[in-house]
Order: sequence, then structure tokens, then C-alpha cells
Amino acid sequence: MTNILEQFKLDEKVAIVTGGAMGLGKAMATALAQAGSNIVIADINKEIADETAKEISDNENVEAIAIKVDVTNPEDVNQMVEAVVKQFKKIDILVNNAGMTINAKAEEMSFEDWNKVINLNLNGIFLVAQSVGRVMIKQGYGSIINTSSMSGLIANKPQEQCSYNASKAGVIMLTKSLAMEWSKYNIKVNTIAPGYMKTELTKPFFDQGGEMIKDWMGFTPMGRPGTPNELGGIVVYLASDASSFAQGSVFTIDGGYTAL
Ligand SMILES: NC(=O)c1ccc[n+]([C@@H]2O[C@H](COP(=O)([O-])OP(=O)(O)OC[C@H]3O[C@@H](n4cnc5c(N)ncnc54)[C@H](O)[C@@H]3O)[C@@H](O)[C@H]2O)c1
Repeated sequence: MTNILEQFKLDEKVAIVTGGAMGLGKAMATALAQAGSNIVIADINKEIADETAKEISDNENVEAIAIKVDVTNPEDVNQMVEAVVKQFKKIDILVNNAGMTINAKAEEMSFEDWNKVINLNLNGIFLVAQSVGRVMIKQGYGSIINTSSMSGLIANKPQEQCSYNASKAGVIMLTKSLAMEWSKYNIKVNTIAPGYMKTELTKPFFDQGGEMIKDWMGFTPMGRPGTPNELGGIVVYLASDASSFAQGSVFTIDGGYTAL
């Protein structure tokens, strides 16, 4: 058995991070690169994805590239995966992370908005997992890490976000289903369920404070939001050999929110 610190190393690996241009995806891509993995930032926003890939390749000793992809479009997804295999010859790790939310009361939400959230958060995760999974099945190895949310386990308050919660619960069951089906191909499939995180997008809300933030932090035993780099440890663990017996599991990283 290799030394435990050796098991965490990702040298020469190839990782795709969808929605990796910013926020949690960028932080997870950076952590994987720091552990030695080459990185593909697969994002719909090519301009910011290019900047992120450059930042990673400038600062870490790995190759990092950006590919434009809309994860809700099956052709786009397949082309992105083909481009990665053409350039790197393999895919070791997929961080299936692109997601969004629309807050609306269930009785008022338009069907269009409902579909937008389900389409990106659930259909998008399935399409990328399927396309990358086909490559990993041929290779006979791989690790897929889907980003769900604690919202897949609890219904948040006070904000109304039924489509988001339902989509993230779907990601958890999709993760378990893929783990069931793909264990025999030596593919790990797990999911990370973050709690409230302070990203560039949510920072203004936290800085402003108010009733909603009081509620959020009141229900978080640690009393603070997480920072994106606090997902670095779990993503490197799940991507690496250190997690060789972790399969179909949900890893909550939420300051204790779901422990209440
Ligand atoms: N921020 C939080 O507090 C939090 C908590 C729990 C879970 N999450 C989940 O983490 C993931 C990342 O969240 P974030 O806060 O970093 O989001 P973000 O909005 O900061 O980043 C999302 C990224 O996804 C990309 N993207 C959007 N639509 C896309 C598409 N169709 N195809 C490809 N890329 C697309 C965006 O360009 C962006 O780079 C999401 O799945 C989110 O639901 C976030």
C-alpha cells in the first residue's frame, strides 16, 4: 500500500471541470492543479474560462486549457469530450459542476424557469457524465465528482427554490445510480453537497447582511459561510487514489447545517 500522502497526488492526471471558469468550479480546478492534475475548464463563458485557465497554468506547474461548452447541449458536450481526448488521450477526473438557481414561489414559478434550472442542474450533469463515462468505460478507470448541494437533502429557508432543491436531490440519486452501474468498470461516482458558500456572486449578500443572511447563518452551527477553497480537500480526495473505497456517496461540506 502506497504512503497516504502519495495517494493524494494527481500528477499527470487529466481533469475536466464544468462551470470551472469561476466560483466553486474555479476553486476546485485550482486545488486539482495544485495536486498535479492537468485541467480543462469547460464553461459556457469562454472569456472568463480562458482567464482562469491562464491563471492556473501560470501559477501551477500543469497544463490548463479552456473549452467553450453548453452542458445542456448533447452535441456540444460530445464535441468537448472528443476535443479533450484528442489533446490529452484520456480523462481521469470529471468535476461535473455547472449549475444555477432561480428563486421563485412554487405557485408562481413559470414552467420555463422550472425547466431552465432542471435542464442545467440535472440534464446537464447527466449529459456530461454520460459522455465522459463512455470514455472512462473504455479506459477502465475514472473518478466522477458531481456537485449537488445541501439543498438536495434539505429545503432551504427562507428563500423559495423548489426547482433548485429538486434538481440537486436528482443529482444525488443520479450519482448513486451511476455508482451502481459503473462500479464494474472501475469508475467512482460521488457527489459533494456544499452549504452556503461565499463566492464572488454571493459575497455582496453576505456583506450586506439582513434577515436572510441571519437565517442562513443561524442554521449553520459554525456560524459562517464556507469559502470556495474549503472544497479543495474533498475534491482532491475524491479525485485521487486516497478515496479508493468511496462510492456513490454524498459528502456534505456545510459548516454543520445538515447536522441540525
Ligand atoms: N455558491 C454556493 O453557495 C453553492 C452551494 C451549494 C452548491 N452550489 C453549486 O455549486 C456549483 C457552482 O456554483 P457557483 O456558486 O460556483 O456558481 P457560479 O454561478 O459562480 O458559476 C457557475 C459557472 O457555470 C458556468 N455555466 C453556467 N451555465 C453553463 C452551461 N450551460 N454550460 C457550461 N457552463 C455553464 C458559468 O459560466 C459559471 O462559470 C453549482 O452547481 C451550484 O448549484 C453552490
